[in-house]
Amino acid sequence: MNHVVKKVHIKTFGCQMNVYDSDKMVALLQQTHAMEPTEDMTHADLIIFNTCSIREKAEEKFFSELGRAHELKEANPGLLIAVGGCVASQEGDALLARAPFVDMVFGPQTLHRLPQMMEERKRLGRHQIDVSFPEIEKFDALPAARVEGPTAFVSIMEGCSKYCSFCVVPYTRGEEFSRPAHAVLAEIAELTHRGIREVTLLGQNVNAYLQLEDSGEDVDFARLLEQVCALEGIERVRYTTSHPLEFTPALVAAHGALPKLAGQVHLPVQSGSDRILAAMKRGYTAADYRRIIDDLRQARPDISLTSDFIVGFPGETEDDFQDTLDLIEAVNFDGSFAFSYSPRPGTPAADLPDDVPEEIKRQRLQRLLALTDARAAQVSAAMVGTRQRILVDGHARRNQQELRGRTDNNRVVNFPGGERLIGHFVEVLITSTAHYTLRGELADVL
Ligand code: SAH
Ligand code: F3S
Repeated sequence: MNHVVKKVHIKTFGCQMNVYDSDKMVALLQQTHAMEPTEDMTHADLIIFNTCSIREKAEEKFFSELGRAHELKEANPGLLIAVGGCVASQEGDALLARAPFVDMVFGPQTLHRLPQMMEERKRLGRHQIDVSFPEIEKFDALPAARVEGPTAFVSIMEGCSKYCSFCVVPYTRGEEFSRPAHAVLAEIAELTHRGIREVTLLGQNVNAYLQLEDSGEDVDFARLLEQVCALEGIERVRYTTSHPLEFTPALVAAHGALPKLAGQVHLPVQSGSDRILAAMKRGYTAADYRRIIDDLRQARPDISLTSDFIVGFPGETEDDFQDTLDLIEAVNFDGSFAFSYSPRPGTPAADLPDDVPEEIKRQRLQRLLALTDARAAQVSAAMVGTRQRILVDGHARRNQQELRGRTDNNRVVNFPGGERLIGHFVEVLITSTAHYTLRGELADVL
């Protein structure tokens, strides 16, 4: 019999957690169904959408792509379509009612059951749905993802129990739970054997991490960082995303004590107005946030800070927004992600009138980004003429003759160099900048 390798196409929306989950799905389907990934949706036997519902736009993008897949399926009825991630989790049966051609629906915590669901789909001839939260089972059931290059993401905790009034994550990904520290460390140790030198620890709230190990030791996030930094072969450690609430003195101290910990933190603040922060249920004030930043700068003076902001939250006045701009000036962020507020079904804020006009939201977004972008450009400009230690992670995106690496403060540097440098730390002399991307020349191989 002519055996053809089946192909899977995954379209990933949203956060790093989804990117991590998608890599795991490919590895899983390779193992159970000998499937190979394809970049081309029209060549696929199985199309998976790993969806995001954090903002209205992300969800709309998914539904338009789903329409394309539907057309392909009409021409090729054997094509399987699976929808995972946060839209699947939130919509559940409603998604099947809206798109009855979808074969499988699974949530962020049930992706490991996808191979079984495919078998059941075949055996029973009807669509399958499982958007439950069986928690830690997911990690135990997943194979190691395929790695390319010297950097990798490792999930250390799932979900979120903060329930910010605007956010769907606690409903779509479930409550916070942490992976056992020994399992995290084993996954990273295994990655070092495959050439990984830099690891990014992932979670919606990494600093909520807490595990009681069998040894009786309490491992919190600061302790976990220490243990990860102690692993042989790991040279640089990052994490995302942290939350101001559990930014403990021990975590601040870790930034001073652990040289392998990158000098860069993404710490979402959302707003600089105490009134809005309270309405968002963030649990801190602008002054609390500034104290954390001051402490971090004491521990690690050169630290680079980025943040997330929402503009146009219900009731946000020009004064509230000015408080946000003031906070940005005071903290001196090195870049930001800023979003126009969009009400998400099922969240408490969705019951408030969405009363800031779209035009005002758009203007505030632009004003905010102009401020943080200008600062990021200044930091880049100040790096010209300096030597930077970068981990070479592959070829430059635009020019295959050149290489690419990331600095400690997470900027991409493109520079001419030989392929053998990929996977190694080198020192480059920064020669010019284009906004967030830098150019350099090789100064030293470390
Ligand atoms: N865990 C992170 C946030 C994850 S969501 C934290 O601790 O803050 C990523 C970002 O999306 C959030 O930081 C927020 O800025 C934005 N966001 C979430 N819900 C939103 C909404 N309803 N409208 C606009 N932006 C939103
Ligand atoms: Fe969302 Fe707030 Fe958690 S933004 S992910 S509910 S910390």
